[in-house]
Amino acid sequence: MMRRPFIAANWKMNKTTSETQDFLSGFITAVKDVTDVDIVIAPPFTSLSIAAEKLKGTGIILAAQDVFCEEKGAYTGEVSPVMLVDIGCNYVIIGHSERRQYFHETDETVNKKIKAAKKVGLKIIFCIGESLEEREAGKTFDVLQRQIDKGLYETDTEDIVIAYEPIWAIGTGKTATPEQAQEAHAYIRERQKILYGNKGNEIRILYGGSVTPENIDSLMACKDVDGALVGGASLKVDSFVRIVKFKKG
Ligand code: 13P
Repeated sequence: MMRRPFIAANWKMNKTTSETQDFLSGFITAVKDVTDVDIVIAPPFTSLSIAAEKLKGTGIILAAQDVFCEEKGAYTGEVSPVMLVDIGCNYVIIGHSERRQYFHETDETVNKKIKAAKKVGLKIIFCIGESLEEREAGKTFDVLQRQIDKGLYETDTEDIVIAYEPIWAIGTGKTATPEQAQEAHAYIRERQKILYGNKGNEIRILYGGSVTPENIDSLMACKDVDGALVGGASLKVDSFVRIVKFKKG
């Protein structure tokens, strides 16, 4: 099964509009020759508009980092799915562990957001992953199963990319080994096949957590690792370009 590689930058709360423009000017030129990878940039909300402008006609995909589950109304500070479509977003990240941890998002909230985003045709990067405590207690697979089953409750996997991001590897410099990543990805794929049959083979599963130019090649060499969701190493043009141009094993 050939799954098209998917490499996404999650800038988190970084970059002003002018920093966004500077990055994209250099980046767009540097990846011009890349035709066989889906390249995705998720800047903060405030940079979406300027990024959409810059990315027009490049084939590089624009994503938002979060969305609210209601269509419109009295929800001060929130952004609706249709607003993201309107500004030129193709994808939205939902359920990132930082949203779950700092903003109290639950599997139920994540499920509502996924449904709301799908309704307006937004594609989804759905994040899951266990904490160190859960891993050490041998609960990794239980946590992944719960997050998948509840997050995708009463929905399908059409237009969904799953990102496996073990919390202990995010921003810590402690990457999962290729073996650890493959083990979790294989489990996630099996679960997808149980839920959705053969379609489970088509779903792209990304790894996230301290991905760097140094470790991307060995991660991408794993059978069930179809791409990466990159935080820190996506903030500099050179390092993100090297990740996008990973070497195939
Ligand atoms: P880092 O690459 O900085 O560890 O962040 C990973 C992440 O959370 C991407 O969504």
